Amino acid sequence: MRVGFVGWRGMVGSVLMQRMREENDFARIDEPVFFTTSNVGGRAPDIGKDVPALRDAFSVDALSAMDAIVTCQGGDYTSQIYPRLREAGWKGFWIDAASTLRMQDDAIIVLDPVNLSVIEAGLARGVRDFIGGNCTVSLMLMALAGLFRENLVKWVSAMTYQAASGAGAQNMRELISGMGAIHASVAGELADPASAILDIDRKVSDLLRSDAFPHANFGVPLAGSLIPWIDKDLGNGQSKEEWKGGVEANKILGRSDNPVVVDGLCVRVGAMRCHSQALTLKLTRDVPLDEIVDMLDGASPWSSVVPNNREESMARLSPAAVTGTLSVPVGRLRKMAMGPAYLSAFTVGDQLLWGAAEPLRRMLSLLVS
Ligand code: HSE
Repeated sequence: MRVGFVGWRGMVGSVLMQRMREENDFARIDEPVFFTTSNVGGRAPDIGKDVPALRDAFSVDALSAMDAIVTCQGGDYTSQIYPRLREAGWKGFWIDAASTLRMQDDAIIVLDPVNLSVIEAGLARGVRDFIGGNCTVSLMLMALAGLFRENLVKWVSAMTYQAASGAGAQNMRELISGMGAIHASVAGELADPASAILDIDRKVSDLLRSDAFPHANFGVPLAGSLIPWIDKDLGNGQSKEEWKGGVEANKILGRSDNPVVVDGLCVRVGAMRCHSQALTLKLTRDVPLDEIVDMLDGASPWSSVVPNNREESMARLSPAAVTGTLSVPVGRLRKMAMGPAYLSAFTVGDQLLWGAAEPLRRMLSLLVS
């Protein structure tokens, strides 16, 4: 198979390349070809075998020679190139990290530990477009796969704590710059144990509200604060990120005709690349907690239940613990005061791995195997 890679140098693309090298995926691809939007003829990345020089990512002819194209180049690129390729009669597989094509009828959102049967049925009927899901949705489904599989979820409310990486690399830099600016503004006072905390707080608050505080990418401060809105305003009180929860989760599960209600409130916090979610579930029936634990824990090699105690929750259920790993732990499992069918849960997952690159990598592996 000839596989073209576009957008492999950006943040999600780099994570994809790293994972493909770790899993030795390139050995199984006959002809990997790397494309560029800016450096045609340049050197392709080192993947342990000879590959041609970089090709033009805007050349429909060059792209059409591929059996599959994997793109992490972003939604604008997809909007610009994908229709031209299909109009030119290209019949290859399009694997895309961007959201542009996700909700099209003839596209499948890929998350194979959760929806391998949906993917296989799609392949059998000739589907050619396989799109990575929204990170928050994919991570929630990875965490709750055991309950969805048993059809035990009546509805879910997800209250999210989303990392800066979901907004992009520049936003991660801005978060760190903000943290640094806060520290720098009170470094002298901090070094003095006798300084008054309320004086320190006043200085920090003044800085957060000043134009000098780094906010060019998020529009408002994130470090030392939070942002209770992610993505576009749909005009009905819901953010686009919140809307995606319902439509994408049901599309992934292949049950858009008989949807589980998924809704929530999405919030950006000062984490680097792990999205966390506080979940309230209404189950279809009263299931004993130990059975719930077994179902969740055993759902996939990446799912694990963190026992609901203070020590393990603090140590194992945080962005600091999970970042850079493929594990999607779920914990804080408890039947809530509302009744025996109401379950609380908290989950954390790396937004760049299962939230972005990993489902694409695994979709490509399915095609080349
Ligand atoms: N919309 C997500 C976020 C990004 O802003 O965190 C990944 O789908």
